[in-house]
Amino acid sequence: MTLQFFDFPAARDDLRADVLAGLAAQPKAIPPKYFYDEAGCRLFAAICAQPEYVLCRTERALMEQHLPEIAAAIGAVDCVIEPGAGDCLKVRALLGALHPDQLVVLDIAGAPLAAAAELLANDYPGVAVTALGMDFIHNLEAAAPYLTADRRLVYYPGSSIGNFAPADAAALLARFRQLAGEAGQLLIGFDLKKDPAQLHQAYNDGAGVTAAFNLNLLARLNRELDANFDLSQFRHYAFYNLIAGRIEMHLVSLVEQTVSVAGQRFHFNLGEALHTENSYKFRSDEFSAIAASAGWKLIRGWEREGFAVQLYG
Ligand SMILES: C[S@@+](CC[C@H](N)C(=O)[O-])C[C@H]1O[C@@H](n2cnc3c(N)ncnc32)[C@H](O)[C@@H]1O
Repeated sequence: MTLQFFDFPAARDDLRADVLAGLAAQPKAIPPKYFYDEAGCRLFAAICAQPEYVLCRTERALMEQHLPEIAAAIGAVDCVIEPGAGDCLKVRALLGALHPDQLVVLDIAGAPLAAAAELLANDYPGVAVTALGMDFIHNLEAAAPYLTADRRLVYYPGSSIGNFAPADAAALLARFRQLAGEAGQLLIGFDLKKDPAQLHQAYNDGAGVTAAFNLNLLARLNRELDANFDLSQFRHYAFYNLIAGRIEMHLVSLVEQTVSVAGQRFHFNLGEALHTENSYKFRSDEFSAIAASAGWKLIRGWEREGFAVQLYG
């Protein structure tokens, strides 16, 4: 097995600055990348298993159903790059079908990524696995020196692109294009616009796992930034904003309160929201226009039950 792991701890320094700036802003907001400490990664995996959160299962089923066609459309590839790879489960199907020489996985949650990459390297001894613990919003370009192979495929599943507003999504896709190179390709999965009631259910599961995931952000700030959030005084609140075409997740203050974070004090009014995540939904053509503005040309697309996977070159 070949496995290399490199950690870029610079990402950790951003937490303090981003959280203090986000809590001082109006409305208050914290970037969703900070959900993913070790507990956050575990809770995200649990969300994927909830009956209401069909996105992960639908994407897996779509990939299983169309894998031979997808692999044929991609053709020969030397290197697969997955930003935000998490537990590295989804990329396994592609490794089996494409047989690249190299896999480069990136995630802001360095320790869980290292553990997942080790399992992967054991199971795919023919693939050189490089795991980079980094914030790709800051550091994507730092991955370039680790790419040894030429024909590159960026794989970005899970509708993670939905966390970015369209202009930011286009900017990120343009950076993926730079990393992939002129002959590079992009295989990307995203959630399609659908009945808002179905979306509402997906982000408000009956077992309260999405709520626990959202509230875990405050537990993380208590631990890592010496904050004193009382989790029982905040409530998970997720809804589909039809005009903006996105699910919004918030933590709503149930009382008027003042919270201390890293030595600074922040006032919350009763009912005030801390915005923690957007999850944009797209029509296929809407998404292709965003990708086109980043220099990607659509090669082919596949759809199943409200989810789409598209291949760009
Ligand atoms: C929604 S999960 C998706 C995981 C996996 N790709 C999947 O589809 O199941 C998002 C993943 O991206 C990672 N992530 C989010 N923002 C990131 C960033 N700025 N840099 C690196 N990783 C990030 C998280 O830690 C998490 O593992």
